[in-house]
Amino acid sequence: MGYTLAWGDRLLRPVVIAGNWKMHKTRPEAAAFLRQFHGLVGSWADRQVVLCVPYTALATVVDLLKGELAALPVAMAVGAQNVHWAEQGAFTGEIAAAMLTEIGARYTIVGHSERREWFGETDETVNRRLLAAQRGGLIPIVCVGETKGIREQGQTETWIRSQLDRGLVDVDLGRLVIAYEPIWAIGTGDTCAATEANRVIALIREHIGGEQVPILYGGSVKASNIDELMAQPEIDGVLVGGASLDPQEFARIVGFQPLSS
Ligand code: PGA
Repeated sequence: MGYTLAWGDRLLRPVVIAGNWKMHKTRPEAAAFLRQFHGLVGSWADRQVVLCVPYTALATVVDLLKGELAALPVAMAVGAQNVHWAEQGAFTGEIAAAMLTEIGARYTIVGHSERREWFGETDETVNRRLLAAQRGGLIPIVCVGETKGIREQGQTETWIRSQLDRGLVDVDLGRLVIAYEPIWAIGTGDTCAATEANRVIALIREHIGGEQVPILYGGSVKASNIDELMAQPEIDGVLVGGASLDPQEFARIVGFQPLSS
């Protein structure tokens, strides 16, 4: 098992356990995490781990996974946390798909709620970024999810359908991962009930009509709730923020053992 588990190697949807480091970890910190994580992982051949790290740590993580830590018994890939829609140009502070693939990134998050909230990301810009990611050879992990207010108004389903309708125009469902991340559950410790996450994910799957698309749950995923989440039939994996920063906690998440439901 190496660094390059090809997409499409499985007949069924792959289990994807993605870590989103957000704006955390310098290069030495990233390397220390990986060396520790390496000592903790088992032979979990049925899962794809994706580490979405800051741009500055991408090369460090890729080089370690190809070199010193190439013998990891679990499939690991590296991802970015965003990508621009243009191939190049006057877009200060942005990054192009080719710059990411050249380093060895294979995935990128697109449309995370923090991008939508703090950096003006809309369904339209999310769509442009998704198309550019796929054109450039990356597999995007697109995030959708409702705020507490939307949920309380009973608008969750309408909101998510609209995010999908606008965000996925012309997107290739054969090279896509979706993450359902209810915003009220992100970084709050307030996890969405596993059965409710399962219900919304089923609704997303039905709406896009893409049986092959892995759909993940994200929002306060921890070692203590991973088994219950992964026991749900519609949940294909998780997108983990805070708990992916600690090698021990993240290794426990990657090594989940679904409770029989
Ligand atoms: P959290 O973040 O696990 O810290 O709630 C999840 C995310 O933002 O992707």
